[in-house]
Amino acid sequence: MNDNILRIAIQKSGRLSEDSLKLIKECGIRFDNGAGKLKTDATNFPAEILFLRDDDIPGYVEDGVAHLGIVGENVSEESCKDVDTVHKLGFSKCRLSIGVLREAEYNGVQDLQGKSIATTYPRLLEQYLKSHDVTADIHEISGSVEIAPSIGLADAVCDIVSSGSTLLSNGLKEVETIFRSEAVMIASKHLSPVQQDLLDQLLFRIKSVQVAKN
Ligand code: PRP
Ligand code: ZN
Ligand code: MG
Repeated sequence: MNDNILRIAIQKSGRLSEDSLKLIKECGIRFDNGAGKLKTDATNFPAEILFLRDDDIPGYVEDGVAHLGIVGENVSEESCKDVDTVHKLGFSKCRLSIGVLREAEYNGVQDLQGKSIATTYPRLLEQYLKSHDVTADIHEISGSVEIAPSIGLADAVCDIVSSGSTLLSNGLKEVETIFRSEAVMIASKHLSPVQQDLLDQLLFRIKSVQVAKN
């Protein structure tokens, strides 16, 4: 593998995609991203951009297949992969919250005892419940989590809330916030000296972009 370029993995489509692309462009890195292309070369910086599912990014970075990744802290924390979080990016702010049906009675986290909770974040949820001495039945599902209570699949959900409109339109209310998240840059622990130097250059540019915005 070429140790003299940086492979940067970003989300293919979703909440982080647009701002991730924008950040890379604002750092002065040029590339053409033809529709449907999953890999593209930068034209004026020794980098390649990979377009992946966000959930897969921490694993690729841990393995060193990608050297850098832009993901939500929620995805990185849940993955438990061995990567370095090198910078907070300030966009895609959201929270991981527990929601129950709007009409359900809810007086506190102890009300979740013995209940079933659907989530894409079983590890973060488990930690939270443990720290509150609550035992619940965690149903791991990979998407459309918010539908679970209304179809009788679970009593509650634990999922990402940004505007809150997904919860609202599925008849749910937010009752606990268990984690706050934003986009972060993660890096492989096995960078070559050249890649480390490229990462430093990139971080310098990112920080300049952030300063210019404030
Ligand atoms: C999250 C979550 C909801 C939505 C909530 O998905 O799963 O679907 O965002 O946002 P809202 O409060 O603004 O309605 P995410 O974008 O993280 O995508 P993914 O679950 O497909 O990875
Ligand atoms: Zn995802
Ligand atoms: Mg979702």
